[in-house]
Amino acid sequence: MKQVVLITGGTSGIGMALADAFISQGADVAVCGRSEAALERFSRTHPKALAIQADVTIDAARIAMLNAVAERFGRLDILINNAGTFVERNFTNGADATQDLEQEVALNLTAPIQLTGAALNRWPAMAAIVFVTSGFALVSPTRAPTYGAVKAGLHAFAEGLRRQLAPRGTHILELLPPAVDTPMNANLPGKKMAPAKVAKITLKALANHQPMAMPGATRQLPMLLRIAPNIIKRMVAEM
Ligand SMILES: NC(=O)c1ccc[n+]([C@@H]2O[C@H](COP(=O)([O-])OP(=O)(O)OC[C@H]3O[C@@H](n4cnc5c(N)ncnc54)[C@H](OP(=O)(O)O)[C@@H]3O)[C@@H](O)[C@H]2O)c1
Repeated sequence: MKQVVLITGGTSGIGMALADAFISQGADVAVCGRSEAALERFSRTHPKALAIQADVTIDAARIAMLNAVAERFGRLDILINNAGTFVERNFTNGADATQDLEQEVALNLTAPIQLTGAALNRWPAMAAIVFVTSGFALVSPTRAPTYGAVKAGLHAFAEGLRRQLAPRGTHILELLPPAVDTPMNANLPGKKMAPAKVAKITLKALANHQPMAMPGATRQLPMLLRIAPNIIKRMVAEM
C-alpha cells in the first residue's frame, strides 16, 4: 500500500527535498506552507502532491490541514514536523531581544507538538512521526540561544514520545541536520549539505527504524561531546 506522508514546510529547502524523495519512492505526499506563491510553484512541479495553505501555529489551520489530508488520501502514515525558522537574538546590546519570541517558540516547538497530538488522536496507529530539530539541539548557538532552547525542547519531546508510543509501534525519528543549503541560511558562509542528501539519509533512517538521523557533521557530535565537551561546545556554538 502507498504511504501517505504530510510534510510541514514542504515548499522549500529540506521539506521540499523530503517531498521529492518520498514522491520518487511512490508515496502520496501532502505539504503545507503559508506563501500562496510558493504553494503554486510547488504544485506546478509536483502535480500529484497535495499543497495546503496552512500556518502551523494556528489551531484551526492545523485541523483544516489534517481534514484536507483525510479527504484526499483517507489516512496519514508519516507526519514530518519540518517547518521551522532560525532567529538570531542578541541579549547584550540593549535592544529588545525577545521581539516576536512567542511566534518563534510556537513555530519551532509548540506547533509540532500540537500537530502531533491532533494527528495521533485521528490516526493512533501512524507508522512514523519525524521531528526536524538541529545539531543546535545538542549545543545551543551563541548567536541564537532561543533557537537552541526550542530545538532542545523538541529533541526532549521526541525522546519521551518515542518511549510512550513504542508499544504501539509508531516509529519516532529525530532528524538533526547540520548546516544545509536552503533559503533559511542563505547568508551563512561555509560548507552546507545539499537538501537532497539530507532527505536521502532521512528516508534510510526511516527504513532502518533508527531513533535519530544525524547527517554529516552532526554524526560525530554526541561522541565528541562526551570526549571533549567544552572544546566541542565552543566550536559548534560559534558556527
Ligand atoms: N537549513 C539548515 O541549515 C538547517 C539546519 C538544521 C535544522 N534545520 C531545520 O530544518 C527545518 C527546515 O529548514 P529549511 O532550512 O529547509 O527552511 P526553509 O527553506 O526556510 O523552509 C521553511 C519552510 O517552512 C515553511 N514555514 C515557515 N513558517 C511556517 C508556518 N508558520 N506554517 C507553515 N509553514 C511554515 C516555509 O513556507 P512559508 O514561509 O511559505 O510558510 C517553508 O516551506 C527547520 O525546522 C529548521 O530549523 C535547518
